[in-house]
Amino acid sequence: MRRAIYPGSFDPVTNGHLDIIERGCKLFDEIIIAILVNPDKQPFFSIEERRDMLDQVLKTIKQQNCVLRVDDFEGLLVHYAVAQKANAIVRGIRAISDYEYELQMALMNRRLEPSIETVFMMPAETYSYVSSRLVKEVFQLGGELAGLVPAVVEARMKDKVNQK
Ligand code: PNS
Repeated sequence: MRRAIYPGSFDPVTNGHLDIIERGCKLFDEIIIAILVNPDKQPFFSIEERRDMLDQVLKTIKQQNCVLRVDDFEGLLVHYAVAQKANAIVRGIRAISDYEYELQMALMNRRLEPSIETVFMMPAETYSYVSSRLVKEVFQLGGELAGLVPAVVEARMKDKVNQK
């Protein structure tokens, strides 16, 4: 049983995240998409909203025989990974600029918990510049999000702004 954790903020989930999860399904029997609960950050979407959107959009991807589960966690990622009996942590690398920070995290995680391997995966080139941070910025400045995030995410972003 190969179980991986795909951790992140997912604020919001992008098409780049979904591309990585779809690719991860070729390698793992189960992937737990784990949202970090970070009390120091003011998020755009609550944990519940992020969980709900992930649950919806995961139904739209090619899962093959891989089981996908959405969860959230606090504290050290490796502690969470061990508690979930995971073998690996999946992280997406878009460009060399991601690599330095990701390598640092992967090596720190390995030092903290040598039994867990970090697997770096590359998204399709189409998504090599897509990040949740840029998606929020483009949205807040009135730009077009089609193709960058699932339609349901874009709709939820619009709803949220209209509620204010
Ligand atoms: O989507 P993000 O914000 O790039 O994800 C970052 C994340 C959640 C993977 C990272 O911040 C993390 O693992 N946080 C949990 C705390 C932890 O384990 N810190 C030590 C990392 S070496």
